Amino acid sequence: MTRFLPAFLFAAFALAQAPPGTGYVGSNVCRTCHLDVALNFFKNPHYKTVASGHESPERTGCEGCHGPGGAHVAAGGGRDTIPRAFSLLSTKQTLETCLNCHARDLSKANIRRSEHTLNDIACTSCHSIHRSPTPKFLLAKQQSELCYSCHSAVRAQFDMPSRHRVNEGVIQCTDCHNPHGAFAATWRMSQRPRMVEQSLGNEEPCLKCHVDKRGPSAFEHPPVRVEGCESCHYPHGSTNTRLLRRPVVFTLCLQCHNGAGQFGTRNNGVTQLSAAHNVLNPRYQLCTTCHVRIHGSNSDGFFMR
Ligand code: HEC
Ligand code: HEC
Ligand code: HEC
Ligand code: HEC
Ligand code: HEC
Ligand code: HEC
Ligand code: HEC
Ligand code: HEC
Ligand code: HEC
Ligand code: HEC
Repeated sequence: MTRFLPAFLFAAFALAQAPPGTGYVGSNVCRTCHLDVALNFFKNPHYKTVASGHESPERTGCEGCHGPGGAHVAAGGGRDTIPRAFSLLSTKQTLETCLNCHARDLSKANIRRSEHTLNDIACTSCHSIHRSPTPKFLLAKQQSELCYSCHSAVRAQFDMPSRHRVNEGVIQCTDCHNPHGAFAATWRMSQRPRMVEQSLGNEEPCLKCHVDKRGPSAFEHPPVRVEGCESCHYPHGSTNTRLLRRPVVFTLCLQCHNGAGQFGTRNNGVTQLSAAHNVLNPRYQLCTTCHVRIHGSNSDGFFMR
């Protein structure tokens, strides 16, 4: 069979020959019968484990994932003779196989307690080792299609009139989420973390791109920092302009500035509107025509400039 392979490929595979007696036979042997998989493998990032030439047999090439192939080869093949045929593995076994090598990747620090793992989603639900159509990360499908295949409600959100343009390729799910899981306690305090990726310093991911909203401002509008962007915006899409949670801006403001508190004009620390504001007057309903610096201002405590 070796005569079908380019010389450099043969040389590299030959390096992967394992010492006898370990049950490991080396990737060289596999290609005799799995020629299609083997021929594509040199383009795979995992080929590095072969090319480097100094990995131990259990971390090299085909057997790095599938386990020692001695018995499988002796039996002339079969799904049940190879230690790790992924079609027969549980989610947990798949996860542990991959984490043998990937446990130290920073992005996967929380994968065991991620919503995906807890819901029985394995690495191989999202990654295709031998047949990936994407140029990077061995994804099973192009990213947004991959995520939509299970999150169909989210697809509808990114079709709304005001939206982040994920479908147009301007931004990706993984700009805001880590599908391998995020740190639980830091995102929005005790609320569900939603696997939202954090920028440096536990910031909201939003600030990576919307740097003008980062502050600090001399006069902060507390919800921007405390409750976060989602107190006023939907992150994915909205039927309202500017991804807002309410169709009319003043109803959004009055969720908090409603004077419903027991402390005089204060509603648990939120100022009530002064008498000058006649909310029945259409002019006053357009709050942000006067309070233009709604995300915080450096010159005015009422966010007028
Ligand atoms: C003598 C031929 C032969 C050799 C050599 C061989 N295999 Fe196989 N392999 C087979 C056959 C036949 C099957 C069964 C295919 C089926 O049932 O669909 C198989 C199945 C497998 C499967 C299971 C696929 C599944 O259904 O999940 C894996 C993984 C596998 N081989 C890996 C290897 C690896 C790794 C090596 C090298 C260490 C290797 N094979 C060497 C013939 C071979
Ligand atoms: C990084 C881990 C990994 C490495 C390295 C790897 N495989 Fe696989 N292999 C898988 C996974 C996972 C599957 C299950 C199908 C999938 O998700 O792509 C699989 C499936 C297979 C199958 C089943 C049929 C198919 O084509 O999907 C065969 C045969 C196979 N591998 C052989 C090999 C051979 C031969 C090598 C070395 C050239 C190899 N594998 C290297 C992870 C690996
Ligand atoms: C819910 C889908 C999903 C699951 C489950 C998943 N991944 Fe990923 N993975 C992705 C996506 C999407 C990317 C691309 C990230 C990007 O574009 O920045 C990625 C990137 C990667 C990368 C390259 C970049 C990095 O973050 O290190 C590795 C390695 C990786 N995944 C390994 C794994 C392993 C190992 C598992 C299982 C233990 C796993 N993935 C489970 C979706 C997933
Ligand atoms: C034997 C060690 C080993 C095992 C087991 C292993 N990987 Fe990898 N993986 C690597 C190495 C080495 C790289 C290349 C890293 C680099 O480019 O620096 C890699 C890269 C990747 C990448 C990134 C591809 C890219 O384009 O950057 C993904 C995704 C990935 N592995 C997924 C998996 C999945 C899923 C499994 C389990 C089925 C798995 N790996 C099992 C060693 C391993
Ligand atoms: C194979 C199916 C599958 C794929 C593919 C998948 N997910 Fe998931 N995802 C789930 C399941 C199941 C849950 C847990 C139940 C739920 O909350 O919907 C989940 C949960 C989540 C959550 C957390 C929701 C919460 O309530 O805390 C986020 C965020 C998420 N997925 C994002 C993604 C992204 C981004 C991708 C693409 C990279 C992706 N998912 C791909 C099945 C999948
Ligand atoms: C602009 C940042 C951003 C992008 C891009 C993004 N998300 Fe989200 N997503 C969030 C935030 C923030 C939350 C948490 C919302 C909350 O807790 O109210 C969330 C929540 C979720 C949830 C759980 C709640 C729900 O609505 O079901 C899922 C699932 C999810 N996102 C999947 C995806 C998928 C799939 C993509 C890509 C197609 C994506 N997200 C793109 C920021 C984003
Ligand atoms: C990867 C960069 C990126 C991240 C992260 C990001 N955005 Fe955006 N955002 C954009 C871009 C680019 C636009 C411009 C609209 C477009 O063309 O998609 C935008 C537009 C907006 C708009 C205005 C929409 C309109 O209709 O004018 C709002 C509001 C917004 N983002 C809020 C957020 C919030 C809240 C988050 C965090 C949950 C966030 N963004 C995270 C890139 C990002
Ligand atoms: C108190 C409610 C509130 C909070 C919290 C909030 N916003 Fe806004 N945001 C608004 C309103 C209202 C508008 C529309 C302003 C207008 O129509 O003039 C807006 C508009 C925007 C726009 C589009 C116009 C512009 O100024 O660029 C972006 C982008 C944006 N917000 C991002 C963010 C980000 C990022 C966060 C979190 C750091 C955030 N917002 C937090 C109320 C809020
Ligand atoms: C999630 C709750 C929340 C929402 C929604 C909200 N605010 Fe506020 N706002 C506050 C809090 C808390 C303060 C600080 C009150 C204080 O310091 O006494 C504040 C302060 C202000 C101030 C400065 C006056 C002062 O007393 O410090 C103005 C002006 C203001 N908000 C306008 C608005 C407008 C306009 C909207 C709608 C676009 C809005 N707010 C939406 C919570 C909110
Ligand atoms: C025509 C311009 C204008 C519009 C429109 C407007 N405001 Fe004001 N707002 C002001 C001025 C001027 C002040 C400071 C003096 C005052 O208290 O009347 C102020 C003060 C405030 C304060 C601080 C209250 C206080 O007295 O300390 C809040 C909260 C506030 N506005 C919220 C809103 C909300 C919510 C809306 C929309 C329903 C709104 N404003 C619409 C001009 C406006």
